[in-house]
Amino acid sequence: MNIAVIGAGYVGTTTSVAFANYGHKVYVIENDQEKLKKLKKSILPFYEEGMEELLKKLIAGGNLLFFQNIEEVIDQVEILFITVGTPSLPNGEADLSYVEEAARQIGKLMNEYKAIVIKSTVPIGTGDKIHKIIKAELKKRNKEISFDLISNPEFLREGKALQDALYPERIVIGCETEKAEKVMKDLYKEINSPVVFTTIKDAEMIKYASNAFLATKISFINELARLCDKIGANVIQVAKGMGLDSRIGPHFLQAGIGYGGSCFPKDIKALLALASAKKTPLQILQAVSDVNQTQALWFMEKVEKALGSLSGKRIAVLGLTFKPQTDDIREASSLKIIQYLIENHSYISAYDPQGTEHVKKIYPNVHYTQTPFEALKGADAVLIVTEWKEIVEIDWKKAKNVLSQPYVFDGRNCLNSSALKKLGYHYEGVGTPSFDV
Ligand code: UDX
Repeated sequence: MNIAVIGAGYVGTTTSVAFANYGHKVYVIENDQEKLKKLKKSILPFYEEGMEELLKKLIAGGNLLFFQNIEEVIDQVEILFITVGTPSLPNGEADLSYVEEAARQIGKLMNEYKAIVIKSTVPIGTGDKIHKIIKAELKKRNKEISFDLISNPEFLREGKALQDALYPERIVIGCETEKAEKVMKDLYKEINSPVVFTTIKDAEMIKYASNAFLATKISFINELARLCDKIGANVIQVAKGMGLDSRIGPHFLQAGIGYGGSCFPKDIKALLALASAKKTPLQILQAVSDVNQTQALWFMEKVEKALGSLSGKRIAVLGLTFKPQTDDIREASSLKIIQYLIENHSYISAYDPQGTEHVKKIYPNVHYTQTPFEALKGADAVLIVTEWKEIVEIDWKKAKNVLSQPYVFDGRNCLNSSALKKLGYHYEGVGTPSFDV
């Protein structure tokens, strides 16, 4: 099939690559000149494992084409995906202006039936709003052209986005006509995943509810970790014991210094804003957000208590991205931690294999190193912020010789605590028994 994808950000590019790989011809539209130039040269504007190689192959094969305007491709496609950004507004609501602009353009330019699919994460009810915008544009042109509005949310995890797009665990399609259902069935016919057909509103809600539930699991275990810390229980064992119950499941129960990224914080804010606007507060989700806001600070208070004071101390911050296998630092806990250390007059040396350049723009005065080992030299304490492989696999025996004091605070519970303790380290994790219980 011929498909247009409007917006070559993370979701749009990944979606385009996946559809092109399944044999569809994908016309990608990106109005940022710089990004467009890069993509045309097969350069991915972000880091995602395996994606650039596939992008190159698909461009060379002719299935993936890039354009600046919808006008250039609209008559050649039956399906248009809207994958533009929906950033948070100051009040937490999602900013729909890019989605609305894409819809206006489609309404202005379409000359025959189109299936218009929203993949961007949008508040519940946006489908109706966008439908009206397109209808109004057609009316202005005195055109009676039929179209379907469809919601097809994405569930891509950064670092595993390609796998998630090529082999999704489920495909959710919100559509309300037989024609739309047929178009979407044809589009996904090569992908062997369970498909859930719903109304547009249900599909929009499924996306928010899924992210909200995953974030709830994380904040639940993080809050429990604070109590485990106090009573000397081990949250890793608690999560393991809980997770064997298939009704609970083992995933997203890893205690740490909080969730970050481009999705969870933004989507939770948007759902809370919607709930508040509808005068139906979501109390559990509010608590999830509050726990996450304070988790990194709770961790830093632990560090401060163990070291006495942070002032004048040399602190190695290992890991800056919100999780491993990405260069994304949006809402990363590292930013809260660096800010806290600066306010408390510590000297920071920081290492990350992918995120350094982005953090440097926010904190230019931090000392950034090329290797994790370099960051340890002369440090009074090491903070593990992101569980990158090269950080987890540091030779801690050797490291002890270069550290000023053997303090390790493991914000991701990713190190072998007993091995470190045997080497003479003062080790503290999140909700794991430590020296100070
Ligand atoms: C998430 C969803 O998983 C994905 O389905 C959705 O479409 C977009 O948002 P992503 O943001 O890439 O994906 O990251 P994810 O792997 O879900 O992790 C989010 C954050 O939660 C990270 O900061 C991670 O460190 C943290 N996390 C995750 C925990 O602290 N504990 C866990 O057990 C799992």
